[in-house]
Amino acid sequence: MRLTAIFPILCLLGALVLSFLCLFAGSKQSFLPSYDLLTLNTSRIGSNLVSENSPIEPLQDIFSALPDAINEEISQRADALASRLGVDDFYSVHILNYCFGTYTPSVLPNATLPLSDIKRNITGCSNRTAMFEFSPGEIIEQRLNESGVDVTLDDLQWPEDIQTGIDALHAVQAAVFILYCISIALVFVALVAAVFGVVGNGRLSACVNVLITAVALLAFGVASALVTAVVVKGTDVINQHGEQIGLQASRGNKFLALTWAGAGLVFLALVAWVVEVCVGGRRKRRSGYAAAKTG
Ligand SMILES: *[C@@H]1O[C@H](CO)[C@@H](O)[C@H](O)[C@H]1NC(C)=O
Ligand SMILES: *[C@@H]1O[C@H](CO)[C@@H](O)[C@H](O)[C@H]1NC(C)=O
Ligand SMILES: *[C@@H]1O[C@H](CO)[C@@H](O)[C@H](O)[C@H]1NC(C)=O
Ligand SMILES: *[C@@H]1O[C@H](CO)[C@@H](O)[C@H](O)[C@H]1NC(C)=O
Repeated sequence: MRLTAIFPILCLLGALVLSFLCLFAGSKQSFLPSYDLLTLNTSRIGSNLVSENSPIEPLQDIFSALPDAINEEISQRADALASRLGVDDFYSVHILNYCFGTYTPSVLPNATLPLSDIKRNITGCSNRTAMFEFSPGEIIEQRLNESGVDVTLDDLQWPEDIQTGIDALHAVQAAVFILYCISIALVFVALVAAVFGVVGNGRLSACVNVLITAVALLAFGVASALVTAVVVKGTDVINQHGEQIGLQASRGNKFLALTWAGAGLVFLALVAWVVEVCVGGRRKRRSGYAAAKTG
């Protein structure tokens, strides 16, 4: 019996749970919706056009249909515009899908309402897809079409660079999905090997565990690194080119914490096995020496 193997078992068990959570967080409206990769704040979309004197024609029609009182207040006009266009307040991206909804109690912070008190109220999520590719332009175009208002992405002056930047991330996004699946499988194998490691006492079993756990760590580490790259790059691209049309993106720091905590647990398991190999080796040599002395 090797009771010290219980520690890596617990670490790997935790890592297995976290890797599942990374893959499935937000895949349903009620399941960890706040663990998103990034959130796109579309509540002010078109605000660049609201302040223009002569917005393009379909928007002009919308503005003239609004009550005068609203017409005066630019921020309210933007609110009214987004809802008339059928665009949700935000879109949050997950590994398998995206969710959308409204900010509550209101979109903009004010003197009595700090930004931290504004909560997301998710009203729906897209269906889960393996190799899900996030395309904000497509989603918003679809909403515009459904709303029946004759406004296109071009009318909103949707920047080409956002699409180009996001498209470049699609291959990485697919790789992230595959790597999480591989990580789950490898962490599971490492967990099974660790359970056998409790029974097997030899140095060989510890060495095998070092090997398997190292491979699992590699997969989980690369998955976490790639997903971090997608999050950081995606947020930057959107913020850089989207500001002019009222788009804002924010990083999903809770998700990043989750994935790196998972990778960290696999790392702890690996350290435990390496220590086991070293200490176990010394223990064996010492007992061999004692046996030689008595024998
Ligand atoms: C801030 O916004 C909230 C929610 O819309 C509103 O109830 C409150 O009156 C606002 N406060 C100020 C000072 O404008
Ligand atoms: C969230 O949205 C739903 C549907 O739009 C609404 O019925 C509900 O009251 C909202 N919840 C909060 C806390 O605003
Ligand atoms: C989502 O899945 C449901 C049933 O599984 C289906 O009826 C619906 O059309 C799907 N929606 C999309 C957008 O694919
Ligand atoms: C949404 O974005 C606008 C600017 O585009 C910003 O003023 C507002 O504070 C953001 N709201 C939230 C809840 O992040």
